[in-house]
Amino acid sequence: MADWPGKALAALKPSGSLWVFGSLRSFLASSAAFRNAGWKYAQELVWEKQNGSSFHADRFRRVHELIVQFYREDTPWRAVYNVVPTTPDARARTVRRKHRPPHMGWIDAGHYVNEDGGPRLMRSVIPVRNTHGRAIHPTEKPVALLEILIRTSCPPGGLVGDWFAGSGAAGVACRLAGRRYVGCEIDPVMAQKARDRIASVLPLGEGIAP
Ligand SMILES: C[S@@+](CC[C@H](N)C(=O)[O-])C[C@H]1O[C@@H](n2cnc3c(N)ncnc32)[C@H](O)[C@@H]1O
Repeated sequence: MADWPGKALAALKPSGSLWVFGSLRSFLASSAAFRNAGWKYAQELVWEKQNGSSFHADRFRRVHELIVQFYREDTPWRAVYNVVPTTPDARARTVRRKHRPPHMGWIDAGHYVNEDGGPRLMRSVIPVRNTHGRAIHPTEKPVALLEILIRTSCPPGGLVGDWFAGSGAAGVACRLAGRRYVGCEIDPVMAQKARDRIASVLPLGEGIAP
């Protein structure tokens, strides 16, 4: 795993980005490694689970995990493929913006009207049931959650690199979303399980070679 952030960056197209799951504790410990390898922080999401794993009786019950998106520091954010999904639950309101918000780069002044029930950008806290009880890997991620990340940051037919593939959940999500997939898994038994699992899913999306 030595310098995996550097190797991941070397393999990435300029328009690509990197999603990493972890706790704030792990991101604080690894922030220099990402920065030194040439990654810039883009945003973080919170995966809210229906139940959690708590290791301490004297702390809040932990029911979330962070998902951080990074992009190449040599590429401007506007050149990164990033199509955030919308959900159909906006409240009616008018947003007036006299000035460009200083921290938001390219967004122009102006105003817009939200219709009640219309689309709004997906929220950064995403509730998805975890895979406890039906997983084939101890830290298996839900396919539905990975599919959101993949559709957001990889174009149809694009290639996803999964450097720590585990159960191959991201490969399943790629098949469903019509993206191509390369997974790396050091445990050969798990790698075979992942291959079998991915092969059992028919590709439903467009842009995938038969
Ligand atoms: C956190 S798990 C990934 C879980 C996966 N995202 C899923 O949803 O099933 C990390 C995986 O990385 C694998 N791994 C660890 N070091 C590795 C390496 N150097 N190269 C490839 N895989 C590695 C481990 O065997 C483990 O299965």
